[in-house]
Amino acid sequence: MCGIIGCVSEGPVSGILLDGLKRVEYRGYDSAGMATVNDGKLSVRKGAGRITDIERRKHLSALGGNVGIAHTRWATHGGVTDRNAHPHTSCGDTLAVIHNGIIENYIPLKTRLQSKGHVFKSETDTEVIAHIIEEEYGKRSDPLRATIAATRKLEGQYAIAVLFRDRPDVIVGARKDAPLIAGIGDGQMFIASDILAFIEHTDKTVFLDNQEAALITKDSLKILGADGRELSREPTQVAWELSNISRTKYAHHTLKEINEQRQTVAAAAVQDPAKLAAFAGAIRKAGTIFITGSGTSYHAGLLMKSRLNHEAGIRCDTVVSGELKEHSAFLGKGSVLIVLSQSGETADVLEAVKEAKGRGAKVLSIVNVAGSTLSRESDQTLLLNCGPEVGVAATKSFTAQAVVVNMVVDAVLGRKRSEGVEELPKAVEEALKTERQIKAIVQKYMDRPDFYFVGRGYQSPVALEGALKLKELSYIHAEGMPASELKHGTLALIETGTPVVVINPSGENHADTLSSSEELRARGADLIGISDVEDRVYKHFVRVPRVQPKFMPIVEVIPLQLLAYHFAVAKKRDPDYPRNLAKSVTVK
Ligand code: F6R
Repeated sequence: MCGIIGCVSEGPVSGILLDGLKRVEYRGYDSAGMATVNDGKLSVRKGAGRITDIERRKHLSALGGNVGIAHTRWATHGGVTDRNAHPHTSCGDTLAVIHNGIIENYIPLKTRLQSKGHVFKSETDTEVIAHIIEEEYGKRSDPLRATIAATRKLEGQYAIAVLFRDRPDVIVGARKDAPLIAGIGDGQMFIASDILAFIEHTDKTVFLDNQEAALITKDSLKILGADGRELSREPTQVAWELSNISRTKYAHHTLKEINEQRQTVAAAAVQDPAKLAAFAGAIRKAGTIFITGSGTSYHAGLLMKSRLNHEAGIRCDTVVSGELKEHSAFLGKGSVLIVLSQSGETADVLEAVKEAKGRGAKVLSIVNVAGSTLSRESDQTLLLNCGPEVGVAATKSFTAQAVVVNMVVDAVLGRKRSEGVEELPKAVEEALKTERQIKAIVQKYMDRPDFYFVGRGYQSPVALEGALKLKELSYIHAEGMPASELKHGTLALIETGTPVVVINPSGENHADTLSSSEELRARGADLIGISDVEDRVYKHFVRVPRVQPKFMPIVEVIPLQLLAYHFAVAKKRDPDYPRNLAKSVTVK
């Protein structure tokens, strides 16, 4: 969950690295640091805090040198302290390492290294990597081979970049179960955990596969496979527009991305008909089907299951990726695992994919990041096309998933087109107009410690998503559940003035959800109705436009995203970087 970037260039690199770090800060923002080699000296500057803080305190951009590495941390092993920030150096400061992942066997490795006289400066798992490479580099003065020899001793996941004091012309990278991408520029080369880190300089990228290692110079890239043999790989051109990454007129990335949904619902609908048909065909032919994802992507998976069950009569289950193993006995040849992920790099998701593939199942994925590990591990992939999502909270990726899963289900149902998809941009525009009303609701409930979200059937994933957004952005305790479940326990928590958001569109569940609403109101709850039809039971009514029932979650979730965002702002929390979280959860 950390962000890493390395660059070898014809000119100074610290400014390039600092800009790159800011672009991948969403991956982790506990601490940051940079190392460069200049005039035969390896310099490291680092500390706990946000990148702008560290820049102010340690002047990262003042580091000289045409080669360097930089890191933004999401702590796993070792507290958030200056010493635990990356890069980490070997005993004699001969080399520096940055790392994304977890080294599971670092304790025995550290004990062995200490017994041989190595002195450790941090409590991190990462530091062992620096000391082991130092030992290996002592045996063979070959940066790439020494790094590979060192990684053979590591258990766990890693994407690393290594800088050598006596080799100011190279950076070495290596990966296992964490992403690492090379960027090929003009007179400069990059290695990073995310394309965003270098996209300002080049859109030509080479994705490293699992257990591969690479050495970059300012004008070359050498890749070695897991068996140590040299590989050649053609660069891929990435299509993401740089302009999409800046916040432009918006105060936060999250608000920008909520507003972008006008365009992204349309972009998500642009799918290659042949690919869509093949995806649907594989679902129709499958024996057992599981749908999986984590967090928000799991909620989109619940929407897909609902329609596959009810409308297509296809039996399938949605399980959170971290729990897929509990169900995998049912997966085998002829089964399909449908995987939803914005990043395509979530460790739990990739683990589920590994499990399913190991059992002979086909993997069909719906992913935002083209070229991500998930897309490369899948038999078939559909892209969300919603551009980079930088805010830690998933917003536009959820509505894009809601578009794509519905298009897939419609294709499974043999429909040539997804009726109603073309009216979505206008409907999203309407839903965004609820912002003023939402702000007023935020002011009224600023002091409430708990929020509840309820919906029935197809709306219960929306309730889960509303609660997740509120928790992660505003730190208000929230629970989402099917409206039917309330009376089985949660009703005991409702007292005078407890805010409950009721997602209740017109349709078959409307009357039942109104009955649940009456039960809530009778116990004193303040009901906030989100619907296309008003009712006197709601204390506050937020009207959303009526679209095809399958697309209602898209217009319903928008006021919920705005609610979470405005609570965060009102409570002076940073909605782009919620505490303790990171965007791509690349550790188990
Ligand atoms: C919630 C959120 C997370 C992600 C989850 C999966 O707003 O962002 O719950 O949805 O970590 O991430 P992806 O979709 O990248 O696999």
